[in-house]
Amino acid sequence: MDRPDIGDVAEILLDYVENDRTFQSDRITTVPTAAYFDQDIWQKEIDTVFKAVPLMLALTCEMPNPGDYKAMDAIGLPILITRDKAGVVHAFLNVCSHRGAPVANEGHGNCARFTCKYHSWTFGLDGRLLAVSDRAKFGDLDKATRGLRALPCEERAGMIFVVLTPDAPIDLDDFFQGMLDDFEAVGLKDWAFLGQREIVGANWKIAFDGYLEGYHFASLHPQTIHPRTPSNVTHYESFGPHIRIGFPQVSIAKLRDVPREDWRSQENNGFDFVRILFPNISAFLAPEITQIAQLFPGPTPEENRTVLTYVRRDPPRDAEDQTQIEAMIEFLRDVTYTEDYLIGLELQKGLKAQAHESIVLGRNERGNQFFHETLQWYMNGKQGPAPKI
Ligand code: FES
Ligand SMILES: [Fe+2]
Repeated sequence: MDRPDIGDVAEILLDYVENDRTFQSDRITTVPTAAYFDQDIWQKEIDTVFKAVPLMLALTCEMPNPGDYKAMDAIGLPILITRDKAGVVHAFLNVCSHRGAPVANEGHGNCARFTCKYHSWTFGLDGRLLAVSDRAKFGDLDKATRGLRALPCEERAGMIFVVLTPDAPIDLDDFFQGMLDDFEAVGLKDWAFLGQREIVGANWKIAFDGYLEGYHFASLHPQTIHPRTPSNVTHYESFGPHIRIGFPQVSIAKLRDVPREDWRSQENNGFDFVRILFPNISAFLAPEITQIAQLFPGPTPEENRTVLTYVRRDPPRDAEDQTQIEAMIEFLRDVTYTEDYLIGLELQKGLKAQAHESIVLGRNERGNQFFHETLQWYMNGKQGPAPKI
């Protein structure tokens, strides 16, 4: 196996800190400025990536029980995810086959069937059309041909993946290349859902770039992230198009007091990881609370919508714990928005001004380089070998 053990990554991070080094690629690269506002590029990203690859649209813990559902918007498409009586997940376009109304309002819920709010046609959790109201007057309709339009959907490692194109193939093993193993290992599927927040910002790649490096921690997060995590010390690994980013904590030297064979179990105790699922998920697994950011392009190239989902290994214990959780969620949402997303809006304005034809990514920003190379690889029809870190 060429998959480095987490303990090995910890050893690398300790070496980086003690010797003032970081992961470096072999060269500096550039990205054309237009990639952040051009309508055609944006549309190509939607078509070749967002409508082609499995997107993580929900966590298992958002809808763990039979009859649970989640209705949501994904790049302008109304989506309905359901869990049927046998516990199997399904995804559909949330569009009634009569005249096109949504069959469920956005949000989470639980039901035995969906009743369309326009003329009360009903649909099963498996998408089948169950009943046409006042059918004798409506006329004879073959119900079997008028179910909800299904989308490829599969649940794995505590996450629900959907391809936003009906009848498209879905192959999670091929796409994830082992990237989901860590989520399996921590048992994400049994974690508790704590809440969700939504923020909006600049072009989705401007926002996503911010999750891919730690070069900005001292400048942009002096009071919040930097006291825990040194700036510009990062380790990158790729699994297919996905990235595991290792960050040392300021206190990483305390690993010296732990037997080397136990370093693999010390995540969040001296070092942390941010796990990136291509193209749009950033997950920071932490014991206090975990924030999983889900970035969606649009409605225009200069805007993104980010859903922040908060989970924890254990459900809230009592009212006091619940209050602390709420405060933590507000804090993380505020840091993400006021420290990262607001500067993103300024970047958007600056890039649109076309002062420079390209932006430049340093040898230390390998995660960003790799993300843009991977995006290009998809947009070019996946020709040639896939990029690697
Ligand atoms: S649009 Fe749904 S029942 Fe008419
Ligand atoms: Fe940041």
